[in-house]
Parts: sequence; structure tokens; C-alpha cells
Amino acid sequence: MWKNIQPAPPDSILGLTEQFKKDENPRKVNLGVGVYKDNSGNTPILEVVKKAEQTLLTSQATKSYLPISGDPAYGRAVQKLVLGEDSDACRSSRAVTVHAPGGTGALKVGADLLKKFKPQSRVWVSSPTWANHNGIFGNAGFEIDSYGYYNPRSKDLDFDRMMKDLNAISAGDIVILHTCCHNPSGVDLDRDQWNEVVRSADSHGWIPFLDFAYQGFGDGVEEDRYAVERFVASGMDVLVASSFSKNFGLYNERAGALTVICPGAEEAAVAMSHLKTVIRTNYSNPPAHGGLTATIILDDPELYRQWLAELAAMRDRIREMRSGLVKGLANCGVEGDFSFIERQRGMFSFSGLSDEVVQWLRAEKAVYMVGGGRINLAGLTTDNMDYVCRSIAEALQAVG
Ligand code: LMR
Repeated sequence: MWKNIQPAPPDSILGLTEQFKKDENPRKVNLGVGVYKDNSGNTPILEVVKKAEQTLLTSQATKSYLPISGDPAYGRAVQKLVLGEDSDACRSSRAVTVHAPGGTGALKVGADLLKKFKPQSRVWVSSPTWANHNGIFGNAGFEIDSYGYYNPRSKDLDFDRMMKDLNAISAGDIVILHTCCHNPSGVDLDRDQWNEVVRSADSHGWIPFLDFAYQGFGDGVEEDRYAVERFVASGMDVLVASSFSKNFGLYNERAGALTVICPGAEEAAVAMSHLKTVIRTNYSNPPAHGGLTATIILDDPELYRQWLAELAAMRDRIREMRSGLVKGLANCGVEGDFSFIERQRGMFSFSGLSDEVVQWLRAEKAVYMVGGGRINLAGLTTDNMDYVCRSIAEALQAVG
């Protein structure tokens, strides 16, 4: 069967990690995949997660299946965090949440759900966007188009272009929006700009599908959910894919969620019934450990505070690496203004480095970045900063 079939290309992000692992250069640095690392270059298990896992181990009485939609307590905890405790959507039952395997799983469940009822709709993604958006929605059978977002010249948001494109989108089409910490650019909207985007959805009737994978990595868990709150308050149909991979460091536990917010509780119950059929035919029901661990933390005021503190420490370290990189590049004599790196939010920066430079850095210096020049700032440490900055300076001399 496979004889005449060509191999598929490696994944542009996770494939890079496979390549990185095989690289024997002792100085190698992985600035590719969006995984947090501490200043020693390790991806730690949060202290608060360790505590909650202990509680779970001693209290868990069964490994029987979870419900198709996941543990209801997980759904409630997700809603409180993602929509806000005071959201009327939580209280009025017009929001339903299912536990999906990671943010990717949540997007996939949402894509399959939408394909059932909006088969003719187009899906719009930002230009650029996380490569897997195209894969997930394309595989679900959607035609994909893009709306303007990032201006490579100004290294900033092209808001005029974005609004022009959003205002031309047809009713019923689906628009994927990164609510904070835009992946790959790190360039976010301010509050006024979000208000305008919400108005556009409201008046043109397109369906917002919010990708909320980095809550807490921008300015804080409450600050980062501004766009979600505004969309939800407007009363329109909204989908939110969220994840505990990054903010709880639960990467391999696949603890994500899809929240579907409807105008009323009756519609939400209908949505839930169809979510269950989508999940049942995809993976039947979700894995338990990560979701139950996160629920313990989110439901316990003391553990919650500890989690916020550990999350703030991750956020602050990434900010320090942003400043370190800007200074380091200047010290190495790299010309140009790189201050935009400090204005960007979250784990990523669109560095402005060309694909030739990215290739050269990988081949010559074992410094791995995603094509297009996306850097994961969390891969930088005080130990490897100088090496990375000098390597970039050399790369720019060689092929820049
Ligand atoms: C990333 O963009 O690097 C992360 O979201 C990990 C992934 O699944 O691609």
C-alpha cells in the first residue's frame, strides 16, 4: 500500500524538535517549539502541579471513563478562568465546555462541529498564523483564507488592513482570532482595537473562534481575557479553544477545552449534544489526569494563588529574555532597531530574520528557530544568550 506513496513533510514546529534532538552540537539551542523553559533550559513541572498531583493520587478512586465531555467540575473551572467568574455566560448556562486533548484537540472538535452546520463557510486566519490552524481547518474540509494582521516593515500590527479585511467577511464565515500572545508574531491588539473587532463581528455576522492557548503569558490571566469577555458580552455565538499546556505546564497531559457560548441556554444544550457526537467519533472521551490536576488547583484558593505566582514568574522571565536579546544584539553590533521584541507579548517574537538566516543558524550554529523567523524567547537563558546573539550577528554578516 505504501510503495508508491511519498512521505509527508515533517511538521514545521514539532518536526524541528525531532531534528534538534538528533543534533550533536553541544551548544545547540532550541528556540522553536512553544514550550516554556527555565533559566537552566529545563521545562519544569510547576510546584503547584506537583502538590495537586499528590492530592489526586491519594483521592482518586477509579480510572473508569470520564464522561464524553469530560469531568463537569473541569468544565466549570475552565469557564471561570476563561470567561471570568462574573461572566453571565457561566451563570446563565449559555456556555458549555468540553475537555479536549490540548488546545489543538479543542480546535479540531470545534472545526468538526462547525463543518457539520456551516459546511459552506470559509475559515479566515490571520496572516501569518500558527501553521496548524491551516492543517486543522483544512483537514476538516474548510476553504481557508487570510485576513491582514502583521506588517513586516513596521514589525507591528496592520490594524487598518485587518479591519478592512474583517469588515468584508461574509455572515456565517468563521474567523480565527488569537486572543493574546499572537502566535507567531507576539503582536497583540489593544482594548480599543478589540472593541472594534467585536463590533465588526456583530455587524457583519461572522463567527469568532478564539484561540486562547496562552492565557497569563501576556499581562495576566484577567488582563489577557479582555477579548473573550467582550465577545461573550455581545451575546453572539462564540467558540473558545483554551489550553493548560502552557500556563500550567501540562503539555503532555493534553488538558485543553472547547467552550461554546450561545445566545441562550437552550441553544447551548443543543450545542453540547452535538459536541458529544463529535468527540465520541473522534476519541470517545478525554484523558483524565491533567484536567483533574488543573481542577484541583483552580478550585482551591491557596493553590490558585500559588499557581498565579508561578505563572507570573514564567511571564517575567520571558520578558527579561526579551530585553536581554535586544541588548545582546546591540552589544554584538547588529544594526537596526530591535526594540519591537520588547513590545511583543507572550512566548514568541517574529524576529524579522529571513528564512536564509534561519537556515544558516540551524546548519552552522545549531540555533533552531521556526521558518519565518519565529523565536521562542523562553528557549533563551542567561547562559546561551551571548552565543545566540553572536550567532545571529554572524548569520546576518554571512547571509543577511
Ligand atoms: C507552538 O506553536 O510551538 C506550540 O503551540 C506547539 C505546537 O503544537 O505547535
